[in-house]
Amino acid sequence: MAGRASRIVVVSNRVAVPDPARRAQAGGLAVAVNAALKERGGIWFGWSGTITPTPSDHPVVTTQKRMTYAVIDLKEDDYQEYYNGFANRVLWPILHYRVDLAEFAQADLSGYIRVNRNFADHLAKIIGPDDVLWIHDYHMMPLAQYLRERGHRNRIGFFLHIPMPPPDLIQALPKHGEIVGALAYYDLVGFQTEQDKENFARYLDTRGGQSSADGRSYDVGGRRVKLGAFPVAIETAAFARRARHASRSQFVKRFKESLSGRKLIVGVDRLDYSKGIPNRLEAYERFLRNAEDWHDKVAYVQITPKSRTEVPEYAEMDRFVSRKAGQINGLYSDVSWTPLRYVNRTYSRSALAGIYRAAGVAMVTPLRDGMNLVAKEFVAAQDPEDPGVLLLSQFAGAAHELSAGALIVNPHDLDGMAEALRRALEMPLPERSDRYRRMMSVLEANDIDRWAKRFLAELTDDRALPAMSLPP
Ligand code: F6P
Repeated sequence: MAGRASRIVVVSNRVAVPDPARRAQAGGLAVAVNAALKERGGIWFGWSGTITPTPSDHPVVTTQKRMTYAVIDLKEDDYQEYYNGFANRVLWPILHYRVDLAEFAQADLSGYIRVNRNFADHLAKIIGPDDVLWIHDYHMMPLAQYLRERGHRNRIGFFLHIPMPPPDLIQALPKHGEIVGALAYYDLVGFQTEQDKENFARYLDTRGGQSSADGRSYDVGGRRVKLGAFPVAIETAAFARRARHASRSQFVKRFKESLSGRKLIVGVDRLDYSKGIPNRLEAYERFLRNAEDWHDKVAYVQITPKSRTEVPEYAEMDRFVSRKAGQINGLYSDVSWTPLRYVNRTYSRSALAGIYRAAGVAMVTPLRDGMNLVAKEFVAAQDPEDPGVLLLSQFAGAAHELSAGALIVNPHDLDGMAEALRRALEMPLPERSDRYRRMMSVLEANDIDRWAKRFLAELTDDRALPAMSLPP
């Protein structure tokens, strides 16, 4: 069945429909899927980003080049329960190891299941028997089960863009078997790192799963599921080109003038508690306290678009970070120097590429992150003749690939981060170049195209197609 010519149907909550007026364009997932599909084409199905009291029975379809985008609207209660509620107040914190922040409500779980069943109903009308389905992220965990229940025997893969914690934490999720356990209905489940994959394998052990002799698949509940680590990547060469061009733009020229020769530190993160922004600001404050010789010689630009503002934990974080940013500037600014520019705006990818290239240091210090594509894009954007330094949290998936070149930091160790920041700012060119080259060789070997090809090759690999992967 699933040969090379099979049509690919991607499913994700956000769909990057090429329409600037749409709200559904955010996030690393959208960028990765778009890049992976734009050459081979296919269908991309998901939420339109629109909420309406009366969603249509048919998706809105847009076709551009080889891509067909099919999107559906959600009702207000669907949006509240499925997206704000279960996905972002329960799954997101638990999978980011923050069980303390999870707010479980039975109504939200019901909404999540209802919306996933609704996605399955729509998909059932779109897919043919030979289509290969690639489902993305925590919004859609039980989708394969609901499709199997409707009789679909297609090859179905799932990729989790965010971390998978150890079994103890997964088990903190009420009814985890119905949601995380439902991943066993996929033929292939992909994770960002080996550690995430191992955590899930151990969870399957707790559910009576039996590992195959080579450890690549599990038999559980009468099904066989393959597991793999597929670290998500970027369009390395294209992003490097974009940064080169952007550095000649008026926008970047004006931005650089505003720095007046000061060394630029950059941070770019959605406003999310997983990103460790308070710790980073605290570490910067300690750096300023200890490194008077750097006063007036450095500018830290923290670009932080607001995100999921209707979720209370995000609103709380927003207030905290704004207060902290104000305190730092109140303490250390003088009339001609602002040590921190805290910016709640979204910039185009080209503008960001230019900003990365202008920076001497990037601070990518999440408390927990599936991968973190800012880290990879920052590296790709550097001028090979004068590259900047990446400060990277040991808890970002990207650290598993970039540890030979980045300065790896523990985001809970504020003094350690402050010291690493000084080391990065003062690092001599030969060391910077060496570190940059090591990271670039990783990013060149595993770019977004290879990531998508590896996943799809594994998903459609007939040798690993056991009879048991059919519905029980
Ligand atoms: O994988 C995490 C993710 O879904 C990415 O697409 C992106 O980083 C972010 O979350 C987007 O969040 P939202 O769709 O809630 O704006």
